[in-house]
Amino acid sequence: MSDELYTAVDSYLDELFGGPDRVLAATLERSAAAGMPQIAVSPNLGRFLHVLALARGARSILEIGTLAGYSAIWLARALPADGRLISLERDPKHAEVARQNIAEAGLSDRVEVRVGRGLELLDELRDEGAGPFDMVFIDADKAPYTEYFHSALRLARPGTLIVADNVVREGRVALGPGDDEAVTGVQRFNAALAADERVAAAIVQQVGAKGHDGMAFAVVRAAAGANGGS
Ligand SMILES: C[S@@+](CC[C@H](N)C(=O)[O-])C[C@H]1O[C@@H](n2cnc3c(N)ncnc32)[C@H](O)[C@@H]1O
Repeated sequence: MSDELYTAVDSYLDELFGGPDRVLAATLERSAAAGMPQIAVSPNLGRFLHVLALARGARSILEIGTLAGYSAIWLARALPADGRLISLERDPKHAEVARQNIAEAGLSDRVEVRVGRGLELLDELRDEGAGPFDMVFIDADKAPYTEYFHSALRLARPGTLIVADNVVREGRVALGPGDDEAVTGVQRFNAALAADERVAAAIVQQVGAKGHDGMAFAVVRAAAGANGGS
């Protein structure tokens, strides 16, 4: 098995579903033209997030880490017309490109991009009485993933689906402690997730055009309830 094969299978799967539509292709083109890092979820994982949001029947979604709005567009397309997605982004330039992409996707009425540090914005959302959200997608800096998870729990209710991307990191999570704070941050998150009785959780590794990585999935159990986070 090789990265080439993983990429070929990802392309095959993407083509199977008709390939990228004009809006999603333009989203990636605009982000490349703006010199932004090309670290959005792959087309197949974007589609997967869309299906998850539909399966959850999500009407309200919170995303941490907007970049150019690629995953936000996939997720928001699963919302009903009166649904809402709030996406948090530290970099104002990323947020500006994302807002443009979201507008081009015809989703500005249901997507709000907020600019600032994720943890601070999450506290602000709590203070505003926002939520509970039906689904949370964590995809920002890795060191504070555990804190993002705990903040997400405070904005959740029973049945909320919490998804976190990049939690395998080419397998390095299994190699013990190291000095890469993205890996140690994710190891700390994975351990916190596995030990937290307020959620039923699983972590799935995957390969694809973006290499070897994984996603974590957690559903808030009935006993935890809204504001059940620590
Ligand atoms: C992996 S990208 C998000 C990709 C996006 N979810 C997608 O798939 O289209 C991570 C984003 O998180 C943002 N970010 C990094 N640290 C952050 C923080 N502390 N608070 C909010 N956003 C942050 C980065 O600027 C970047 O745009």
